[in-house]
Amino acid sequence: MRNILITGGAGFIGSHVVRLFVTKYPDYHIVNFDKLTYAGNLANLKDIENKPNYTFVRGDICDFESVRNLFVKYDINGVIHLAAESHVDRSIKDPFTFAKTNVLGTLSLLQAAREYWDGNYDDKLFYHISTDEVYGSLAFDGELFRETNKYDPHSPYSASKASSDHFVRAFHDTYGMPVIVTNCSNNYGPYQFPEKLIPLFINNIRHNKPLPVYGKGENVRDWLYVVDHARAIDVIFHKGRVAETYNIGGFNEWKNIDLIKVMIKVTDKLLGRPAGTSDHLITYVKDRAGHDLRYAIDSTKLKKELGWEPSLQFEEGIEQTVRWYLDNQEWLDNVTSGEYEKYYEKMYSNR
Ligand code: NAD
Ligand code: DAU
Repeated sequence: MRNILITGGAGFIGSHVVRLFVTKYPDYHIVNFDKLTYAGNLANLKDIENKPNYTFVRGDICDFESVRNLFVKYDINGVIHLAAESHVDRSIKDPFTFAKTNVLGTLSLLQAAREYWDGNYDDKLFYHISTDEVYGSLAFDGELFRETNKYDPHSPYSASKASSDHFVRAFHDTYGMPVIVTNCSNNYGPYQFPEKLIPLFINNIRHNKPLPVYGKGENVRDWLYVVDHARAIDVIFHKGRVAETYNIGGFNEWKNIDLIKVMIKVTDKLLGRPAGTSDHLITYVKDRAGHDLRYAIDSTKLKKELGWEPSLQFEEGIEQTVRWYLDNQEWLDNVTSGEYEKYYEKMYSNR
């Protein structure tokens, strides 16, 4: 019996991971522990919320007592840790929250796992989901982030994620805890909070609102469809080697401005507007402070060792994604108006 704690399961990537594990592994018990911050939304999991092998618990990873009780109550033997503050722009405004959730929250989970597992590490795993941003910024075309690259974080977000990665590895080196860390590139797809580039811009194009391009739009990101990330997490959770790091990415680099032009083209097409209708919405604005120029992941190790590769071509993935946001206006409107937050506050205020 596997009782798996997935933290941050009501967020963007977490909801895809929860859906995959709940549907693919009916014999597992999946416990989704999520604080439901502005980024957490139970509507992301409506289709699986009544499955018998799924439990949602609202809680804060920084609350050590709650986390400790969770391990005991559900006899947790595997952790997939995604809960985090995830938006770089917010980290620039409020670094303390990032240090608290991403660093101390991770430490609280590690310590609770250590106490509960008490040195019996058979069939246990603490799997930490991290980002390629810990490696810093690439200067040259063709250069890629490898698992052996040194850490060089620049934003408060990436500094907090780097710190959490170090704590996870320290728990292996110091206490022998079986851990795995993965560092993934930019994800896109359904259920992403519309503060991030892709859903924000699709929504703005639909509403004829300006598209704020930071700096000259020349920064490069490496995009992976979120379901492919969830598939990689599944493979690594089951077959990855303990104490290893795996990079996850789709060899799919895009200069922001080129990606934005593709989004405009696809969104206009799906809205039935003549080509070029929304080009004028592009608005160059002040650059993000400390804006990393280029991220690009080398995921050769993952492919060679575990046979994972992305299933979806980007052209197909971006069209599916635009279609999903256009077809799910109610989800977008609830999220942008904050309606769902009010709803869940009410729902949980009596518990
Ligand atoms: P998200 O912001 O969409 O979701 C984060 C989730 O964590 C939300 O459901 C939120 O309610 C929950 N959460 C936040 N603070 C919490 C706390 N104190 N206790 C319990 N739950 C809390 O984030 P995402 O984009 O899905 O990212 C998930 C993870 O993957 C993060 O660790 C992030 O660093 C990492 N990651 C993200 C990307 C990406 O492109 N989005 C890429 C690589 C790695
Ligand atoms: O690389 C992985 C990371 O990808 C994850 O660890 C983070 O959690 C995730 O948020 C993402 O970080 P980015 O900062 O790369 O994503 P974002 O969508 O915020 O921005 C993508 C690029 O687009 C970046 O170069 C900044 C630019 N941008 C973003 C926004 C929101 C704009 O030009 N305008 C915008 O309005």
